[in-house]
Amino acid sequence: MRALVTGATGFIGSCMVPALVDQGNDVVATDIVAEPRWITSRKGVEYRRVDLCHDPDVRELVFQERPDKVVHLAGLPFEECEESPSRGFQVNLMATFSLLEASVTSDVARFVMTSSLSVFGRGLAEPVLDDAERVPESVHGQTKLACEHMLDWFRRVHGFSVGAVRFPWVYGPGRTTGLSAEHSSFLLDAIARDETAIVRNADQVGDWLYVRDAVKALILLLESDEDPPVTYNIASGIHSVADAMAVAQELFPDARVEIRRVPGADYPYASSFDDTRARKRIGWNPGYSIRRGFKEHVEEVRRSLAVA
Ligand SMILES: NC(=O)c1ccc[n+]([C@@H]2O[C@H](COP(=O)([O-])OP(=O)(O)OC[C@H]3O[C@@H](n4cnc5c(N)ncnc54)[C@H](O)[C@@H]3O)[C@@H](O)[C@H]2O)c1
Repeated sequence: MRALVTGATGFIGSCMVPALVDQGNDVVATDIVAEPRWITSRKGVEYRRVDLCHDPDVRELVFQERPDKVVHLAGLPFEECEESPSRGFQVNLMATFSLLEASVTSDVARFVMTSSLSVFGRGLAEPVLDDAERVPESVHGQTKLACEHMLDWFRRVHGFSVGAVRFPWVYGPGRTTGLSAEHSSFLLDAIARDETAIVRNADQVGDWLYVRDAVKALILLLESDEDPPVTYNIASGIHSVADAMAVAQELFPDARVEIRRVPGADYPYASSFDDTRARKRIGWNPGYSIRRGFKEHVEEVRRSLAVA
């Protein structure tokens, strides 16, 4: 099977590409940045540098590479969408349209992508259901909701096999962007570097999904022959930041954690999401407890620091 992965050098993409190769797929990895060294040295991966906002290049990429499946992870994170809404709409929405159109024309068998829980807005009853009211207030949420509608349209009008997942706080080594990172990944990165992890919002509660589990959910969706429904909430384990850091201190007794309550550091969205539909329809269940995920995250960052 030949798989095209966009956003391949990003946080989730750089975990997705090796996972697909390990499953025996030929992978075409694409991103807007120069080819990273880990891809050059990896068998079974070909790299194409493409700006997905340039429609002719997207067509050329898909028509030349002829993937069977597409995993679309390229996107602008929350904060960049707020800073530059027009770029947010171009990258998250129009580039997705170009990729969907090229994929349908070249007979791609299945197309999956990441939506976001930011499609929901605030004030919903929790756990938030897949089909709860979606009234996003951010540019990021609006672009992702428009993508969800676009997927529905491609399925209905073109009979295209499409799907999307909405992830909560994805943590793991290598995360550099995103609204929830400072409550999750950055704290574990600080512990791995033997720095003080400064917790700005100890009482904040979120659903902590380890990046390898995020990849697992995407692969389950990619392999699923479930067609409707298109979009699935994914959840893993709900913890406050303070409780999560207590687990980190148990695992790494030398870890230094400092609580600084900073007004306005709240994560604005719901903390718990109902993923029953993903569990029933695509066989989703998380493989990583928070202890296992934290251990692997910190050890992996330490290993890469030792090599550098
Ligand atoms: N990390 C999370 O917690 C989380 C949660 C929910 C949804 N998501 C979604 O999952 C996807 C991947 O997230 P991530 O954390 O890996 O993000 P990331 O920012 O690490 O990766 C996104 C990648 O997209 C690439 N990209 C940006 N503009 C591009 C363009 N014009 N052409 C080609 N490539 C371009 C970037 O270079 C980057 O490598 C995103 O769509 C994000 O919205 C992530």
